[in-house]
Amino acid sequence: MNKSLKSVDYGLEKIFDGAQDFLPLLGTDYVELYVGNAKQAAHFYKTAFGFQSLAYRGLETGSKDAVSYVLKQGKIRLVLTTPLNSKSSINDHLRKHGDGVKVIALCVDDARAAHAETTKRGAKSYFTPKESQDDHGVIITSGIYTYGETVHIFVERKNYKGVFFPGYELWESNYNPPSSGLKFIDHIVGNVGWGEMNTWVKWYEEVMGFVNFLSFDDKQIHTEYSALMSKVMSNGNGRIKFPINEPAKAEKRSQIEEYLDFYEDSGVQHLAVATDDIIATVKQLQENGVEFLPPPPQSYYDAIPGRLGAHMKFMKEDISALQELSILVDADEEGYLLQIFTKPIEDRPTLFFEIIQRMGAKGFGAGNFKALFESIEREQANRGTL
Ligand code: FE2
Repeated sequence: MNKSLKSVDYGLEKIFDGAQDFLPLLGTDYVELYVGNAKQAAHFYKTAFGFQSLAYRGLETGSKDAVSYVLKQGKIRLVLTTPLNSKSSINDHLRKHGDGVKVIALCVDDARAAHAETTKRGAKSYFTPKESQDDHGVIITSGIYTYGETVHIFVERKNYKGVFFPGYELWESNYNPPSSGLKFIDHIVGNVGWGEMNTWVKWYEEVMGFVNFLSFDDKQIHTEYSALMSKVMSNGNGRIKFPINEPAKAEKRSQIEEYLDFYEDSGVQHLAVATDDIIATVKQLQENGVEFLPPPPQSYYDAIPGRLGAHMKFMKEDISALQELSILVDADEEGYLLQIFTKPIEDRPTLFFEIIQRMGAKGFGAGNFKALFESIEREQANRGTL
């Protein structure tokens, strides 16, 4: 049993032996969202989530078709991009999906090899390897499509010393709200269409060399009204974790169906970001105006000591402090975790954020799925989409 529980930052050790790490992936390089107004979205992510200004490209830097703001917090880099004219293909993405994640960029040692290896195994190319250069060095990128119109871009930046990418300049802002304590991306969840989960599980196994290390079926993930299925994919060093969800048949419309209806395609459902002090982080986010899902009932918190069992004596947080902030708790053999989910962060009920603190546990809060989905269903009922 655990002697002490510390928050988990996945190291480079190979934790999933079934994975063939032919790429290998070193971590998430950045996540890029296509948005309707990047200037205002950047203000929101700074003000509400405590991201800091990092880099910028736009008319002033010679970018004629699109503007991008790069924000940073801990190891997380978010890129917010908007088109500058009606001809840009970014408009097609925005018209169909609304604001959402276009790129999950992955850091690699060799972007040419990553493209060759993945396309050889069946990936559809987004773009072939290309070099971008400036006074600070060279970055090599390549890209492949994944579910929906979402893409993975492989980034080889070992010979680059600049602020982000060639073409970007340092974004120095006079407006610098404090960090909310977000450290790194823990996992990124994709929603895919009816019956497509196993297709994408196979795709991540065959094309990317990932392994399926956790599965949840509709018997485990259901409420009175709705159901879904989920499989968690991981690369070999455990740094990249992509759960894939699909809807399951039930009495009413599940949150996954609602997502697919409003995103009008498969796409990224949530970004889970890690903190090592979820109470401080969530307090700060709530003060900043971030809206979270409504709290589970009193009975949920009453049941926590029973659910955590032996982990209770290692738990550092007061249950009352967690309840005050509506933070959820779950445990597995290795420890416990604390998590909370925001409401969708745009008008379409699509993308949202999860804040997670792992205290030894490597799971995804399966013990919270029912309470979580009941909260979501109350929101869906308000939207008339249940
Ligand atoms: Fe999650």
